[in-house]
Amino acid sequence: MPSSSSSSSVVVGIDEDLMQLKDRLIGMQTKLEIVPIVGMGGVGKTTLARKLYEDSMIAYHFDYCAWTIVSQDYNMPQILKSLLRCITGNECDQLTNELKNMLHKSLFSRKYLIVLDDIWSTRFWDQIRIYFPDNNNRNRIVITTRESDVVNYASSS
Ligand SMILES: Nc1ncnc2c1ncn2[C@@H]1O[C@H](COP(=O)(O)OP(=O)(O)O)[C@@H](O)[C@H]1O
Ligand SMILES: [Mg+2]
Repeated sequence: MPSSSSSSSVVVGIDEDLMQLKDRLIGMQTKLEIVPIVGMGGVGKTTLARKLYEDSMIAYHFDYCAWTIVSQDYNMPQILKSLLRCITGNECDQLTNELKNMLHKSLFSRKYLIVLDDIWSTRFWDQIRIYFPDNNNRNRIVITTRESDVVNYASSS
């Protein structure tokens, strides 16, 4: 892959993927859908997810959009805080149970898009999924990962 500037017009070869993913995000399925982007490190997963997340049509379609980086040595309180920041617009110092409840409550009865970038383990998925209610509101969770195990696990849960 050529290293080039960050201008979106130089990102090549992802238009088709982008269109397919967009269709899934705004599609009619009412049930919460997990949308996986899977592949080796450096293949362009984060870039693709970013383009999707920053698309104006996508932003317009959802009530709430939130993005968080997970990675291997994830810090759960940090992750929950960053999701809360995306959704409420507020920075919180300490993650209380009240705030955790607020995350779940804010998402309930809303149409939300969550991006969880770079998940390494099914254990992480078990810990995070309790915060994402399924209210048949056409909610979507995009996950990027190198592990097909994670995709299978999350898709079947
Ligand atoms: N379609 C593309 N065309 C050109 N460069 C790309 C493309 N997708 C990603 N890149 C570049 O490749 C590198 C790795 O991409 P990244 O999205 O971080 O991969 P991953 O998340 O799969 O590890 C980055 O420097 C990024 O700018
Ligand atoms: Mg990445």
